[in-house]
Amino acid sequence: MFSLKFGRLLGNDVAVDLGTANTLIYVKGQGVVLREPSVVAVDRVSGGLLAVGHEAKRMLGKGHRNILAKRPLKDGVINDFELAQEMLYAFLKKVIGKTMFVRPRILVAVPSGITEVERRAVRDAAVAAGAREVFLVEEPVAAAVGIGLPVHEPVGNMIVDIGGGTTEIAVISLSGIVVNGSIRVAGDEMDVAIQNYIRDKYKMTIGEQTAEQIKHTIAQVSPVFDGVLRMEIRGLDVLSGSPRTIEVTSQEVRDALKGPIQTIVDAIKKTLERTPPELVADIIDQGIYLAGGGSLLKGLKELLQEEVNLLVHTVEDPLDCVVRGAGKIMEDLETYDRLLLKPKDVGTSRRY
Ligand SMILES: Nc1ncnc2c1ncn2[C@@H]1O[C@H](COP(=O)(O)OP(=O)(O)OP(=O)(O)O)[C@@H](O)[C@H]1O
Ligand SMILES: [Mg+2]
Repeated sequence: MFSLKFGRLLGNDVAVDLGTANTLIYVKGQGVVLREPSVVAVDRVSGGLLAVGHEAKRMLGKGHRNILAKRPLKDGVINDFELAQEMLYAFLKKVIGKTMFVRPRILVAVPSGITEVERRAVRDAAVAAGAREVFLVEEPVAAAVGIGLPVHEPVGNMIVDIGGGTTEIAVISLSGIVVNGSIRVAGDEMDVAIQNYIRDKYKMTIGEQTAEQIKHTIAQVSPVFDGVLRMEIRGLDVLSGSPRTIEVTSQEVRDALKGPIQTIVDAIKKTLERTPPELVADIIDQGIYLAGGGSLLKGLKELLQEEVNLLVHTVEDPLDCVVRGAGKIMEDLETYDRLLLKPKDVGTSRRY
């Protein structure tokens, strides 16, 4: 109790959603102050940091041989420790730089399926980036708080958070996760599926960012959509290596995305099968809440509704709800203490 109050006097309390695709930061009393891609650009020769966030993302796949633009997280977890820590430090400096002389307390949202070693990497990265104390919360729990679901009540709240690297599925009741599943299939895998489809069908390679643009612009996976959207895309002919322009349609993108979407549907069904019947009854009444950038995929809500035969809700701010929930927890650690991940907590998550 004393340390919580004392902590509050000392300075910045910050919540971070360190995502595979995007990092968001919430500063206590200020709200969400940073939304940037989780990308860094380094100078290969000197090893120095050239850019982070938006600026670094523009360099992805476009730099010359001495510039390396990289994503320090993969599949929801830290893949390159040094870079993750440098990126977090750079972002924190941007938002609380002037008051950084008082080291912040940081709450980081982490995937529910991660191992003890992966959790330790997050803690260590936050400490190396300047945190004086680190708390962890599981992403679906933070998302549920961000959405405003009654997480403390004895009712089943089901969240499906489709991010860049992972899809997290969780049923929360009485301040904790009852069952959950985590799969390393989300937005990034959708981009890869589009790249593979174009390569197989048109013998043409396209970049990661082009695939993502296709997904954002013309993907439409609703079973009731019968229109056609079209987009011109550029890439390289696999055989001749020369540049080509082709047109792709929403129907083709739907075919390309079938695999990853089916994996997500199966994981939701498997999680429901493991959910106690009383909580399933609540979920039948309340429906499933979708969070994460992947939930912006057009038609996904309708498709899931048909596939799992439950009401599906999209939320107003799917990209922000994890960090807003984590921020709300950080605003009142005493009330939300039970939601924090304790070192002794063992994972109940299944990797499908
Ligand atoms: N309009 C859209 N349609 C389809 N996908 C979208 C759209 N907008 C964003 N996305 C996708 O959402 C993903 C990023 O979502 P989000 O920021 O929630 O992920 P993250 O939290 O960084 O990742 P993770 O939680 O897996 O670590 C990207 O794959 C992006 O392409
Ligand atoms: Mg996320």
